Amino acid sequence: MTVRIRADLDQLPAYVAGRTVAGSLKLASNEVSAGPLPGVPEAIGRAAADVHRYPDIGAGLLTDALATRLDVDRNRIAIGCGSVALCEQLVQITCTAEDAVVFPWRSFEAYPIMTQIVGATQIRVPLTAGHALDLDAMAAAITPETRLVFVCTPNNPTGPAVRRAELERFLDSVREDVLVVLDEAYREFVTDPEVPDGVGLAGRYDNVLVLRTFSKAYGLAGMRIGYAVGPAHVAEALRKVSVPFSVNAVGQVAALASLDAQDELRTRCAAVARERVRVRDELLALGYEVPETQANFVWLPLADRALEFSEHCLDERVVVRAFAGSGVRITVGDTTENDALLAAAKSFPLNG
Ligand SMILES: Cc1ncc(COP(=O)(O)O)c(C=O)c1O
Repeated sequence: MTVRIRADLDQLPAYVAGRTVAGSLKLASNEVSAGPLPGVPEAIGRAAADVHRYPDIGAGLLTDALATRLDVDRNRIAIGCGSVALCEQLVQITCTAEDAVVFPWRSFEAYPIMTQIVGATQIRVPLTAGHALDLDAMAAAITPETRLVFVCTPNNPTGPAVRRAELERFLDSVREDVLVVLDEAYREFVTDPEVPDGVGLAGRYDNVLVLRTFSKAYGLAGMRIGYAVGPAHVAEALRKVSVPFSVNAVGQVAALASLDAQDELRTRCAAVARERVRVRDELLALGYEVPETQANFVWLPLADRALEFSEHCLDERVVVRAFAGSGVRITVGDTTENDALLAAAKSFPLNG
């Protein structure tokens, strides 16, 4: 006899984290190279003295600061242990095993995992030929069982973001009892003025919620702080199912301090956006296919050569994130890191 685990979890894919290899540059997890924002390490240091105390379970100060900054009512906000935890909570509050979740594919790898943990049905909608979300196909994929739709914009791992007109047309077409989640983990890197701000849309549609994170542009991936802005009753349900105290005290302080460094945030995002154009242009010139991207990464749809490319980069001391049989996602780092990546891409035998 042995302890019985749910048999359906045998098929659960593991979340594959970007590798850290000593002595190599890590361009595998869409982190920013610039580190935490000014003043944040000091705030973290001060908070360390109080870690024998439990955190504020409601993350009150951070919630208030976000409410002010985003100009939304505080009861429309839920803080999570990274936005990935909020993804799981969103499936938990909307679905049981009878229900379904629609998401683009390929997209953020947590969507199928979180859906499967709840036992709900996955409806994966293929991307367009340009590796962008196909919102018409996603609208058509919504069934009577569908309770939740993830719209990842910009899309991880491929890069394109959805634009205002197509997104509004999509939102107008979705049944009002279906929650649409705009996952904007990379929002701060967006430069295309046609890409709408999800918080504004969430204010206009009663079934729209936005996910944001401090992990990417804010440089706090290790602190695990994300947030949702959506309908008040949805935010309340998110808080209800969250693991108590999972939003840690030091992370709350770090996120608060980060909000005070908006000028530096803008400066670093502008630098990433400039480097993104340079990296993409040089990769295109080398003969790679590179979809348009609004995030802090580029996607190379190398199909069955994805692993070979990532091994080649590793030999050149650059760690990228390969998706076997599909492509390679490369984080846009600083100039030196990007130069190393471009040199590795140049020495890869692309045509043979
Ligand atoms: C699209 C998207 N959403 C959410 C997340 C989760 O980020 P975190 O849990 O660090 O906030 C990620 C991280 O890779 C992501 O790419």
